[in-house]
Amino acid sequence: MTLPVNENPRCTFAIISHPDAGKTTMTEKLLWFGRVVREAGMVKSKQGNYAKSDWMEMEKERGISITSSVMSFPYNQRAMHLLDTPGHKDFSEDTYRTLTAVESVLMMIDSAKGVEEQTKKLMEVCRIRDTPIVTFMNKFDRDAMDPFELIDNVEKICSIQCVPMTWPVGSGVDFKGVYDIKTKTIRSFDEGNDPESEKVLDASDLHSAEVLDYIGTELAEKLEEDLEMIQEMMPEFIEEEFLAGIMTPVFFGTALHNFGVKETLDMISTHGPGPAPREVRLSPFDENSDLREVLPNEKKFSGFIFKIQANMDKKHRDRVAFMRVCSGVFERNTKIHHVRTGKDIKIASPLIFQAQDREITEKAYPGDIIGLHDTGKFQIGDTFTNGEKIEFTGIPSFAPEIFRKVLLKDPMKAKQLDKGLQQLSEEGTVQLFRRHTSPEKILGAVGVLQFEVVKHRLEDEYGVRGEYEGYGFVGVRWLKFKNDIQKDKFIEKNSINIVYDNKARPCFAVRSEWDLKLVMEKNEEVEFFTTSDFK
Ligand code: G4P
Repeated sequence: MTLPVNENPRCTFAIISHPDAGKTTMTEKLLWFGRVVREAGMVKSKQGNYAKSDWMEMEKERGISITSSVMSFPYNQRAMHLLDTPGHKDFSEDTYRTLTAVESVLMMIDSAKGVEEQTKKLMEVCRIRDTPIVTFMNKFDRDAMDPFELIDNVEKICSIQCVPMTWPVGSGVDFKGVYDIKTKTIRSFDEGNDPESEKVLDASDLHSAEVLDYIGTELAEKLEEDLEMIQEMMPEFIEEEFLAGIMTPVFFGTALHNFGVKETLDMISTHGPGPAPREVRLSPFDENSDLREVLPNEKKFSGFIFKIQANMDKKHRDRVAFMRVCSGVFERNTKIHHVRTGKDIKIASPLIFQAQDREITEKAYPGDIIGLHDTGKFQIGDTFTNGEKIEFTGIPSFAPEIFRKVLLKDPMKAKQLDKGLQQLSEEGTVQLFRRHTSPEKILGAVGVLQFEVVKHRLEDEYGVRGEYEGYGFVGVRWLKFKNDIQKDKFIEKNSINIVYDNKARPCFAVRSEWDLKLVMEKNEEVEFFTTSDFK
């Protein structure tokens, strides 16, 4: 596969949904239209009933997608990078970090259910960064909510203006296809047909014999009424408002039957923004540092790691760090500067990913996502440059709410446990804290399933079996001090509640909200943060 190198900017987007809304199915179909898989069904394995992007055994068993993945393909003269996100709420940190690496988002909605809890949360994240969103109302081959109701639901819950680009004609067994609002045509839904040779009817006259013959009088009348309402009540698509995250183009269809997928992909590839500027600290790892924006057209290369994924290929037990290129050109076998370690390194086999395959790439441009083989040197949030000492901001950890410690079943395995926990925390699977008053290590998670992944992987990859015991904390807060004297004093006074994160930053471990309130009142000069990426 070669990604096009031309004047068209990269299109880097993520797909989000509540579990079961059809994200995996849509991903598979997008890849099919992107010609990365030869036939739909190759991503979603028939025997395993899981997508190839769901690598881990646990995911198969549970039928949920834990890990994000990256899939690249050329489409419409652009290099497209599709980033998968885990739908399950326990992995929302991972999803958040993936969203920091994209410029737009495709939101899948189950049309029988409307906006569900997890989509609502993910949308809130998109709103923070004003990420442009394309909406796909899925499963119209089943009974669905009324399209106006669905639109109202998205607008109210997600606080975004919807603009229908297509409109469904019927739903469930009566689903006849979609009306294209701009071209005034009906694309007929004929289950099982090749989606690229869909029948298109001229529907500029909804009373024409051809239209009535296909959709019947009842649906034609309903469509006519609906279109009048749309014209009266809904705005037209305005690209600037889409790019500002104020307006979302809405498509209706059924991913399972390929219907509506191509229009959605056309929309993203035509209007999806290219790489945006990204903020960096001019003094790395200094919360008080001055900031600047790195522009994608700057000559000097820069990029950051937003995800580390282990076991992508079970046979090789490998670990891949995903880097988003932000400026300049990345070149294979050319020195790049790893800001956190201060070392210059050469990447011999930078990878780009398709559905199941990976390929070595010689160069990568702003917006590209490349995979770097990782032997444990990289961490989430690491910045790479041409030599410049800067650090990308905005790749946070969130304050965990559940804590556990590992009690080893076999004390001889202490070393393996340490290694395993260190690596898993660097990958962002779980957060690892060390207490101030003892060498004890504590695991912190946002969702309880994270511990299951840790347990499973410690056993499977490091041969470590353990008991997981609850811990009396309910949260942590990252701290910002005015100076070192204040810092030392605070740590001394609150030593029993001080823990250090994996970057050795001191945090206040919260035993109760009451506790936290009290310590904040007593230390008004110290700032407390719920995410690790504060300024
Ligand atoms: P997710 O990744 O968002 O969790 O959802 P996924 O694509 O796995 O879809 C969840 C279920 O919904 C799957 O059924 C899938 O086939 C079905 N589905 C997705 N899109 C459509 C659609 O447009 N119409 C209909 N009718 N169903 C759709 P499943 O029974 O859980 O799995 P499977 O046995 O079909 O693979």
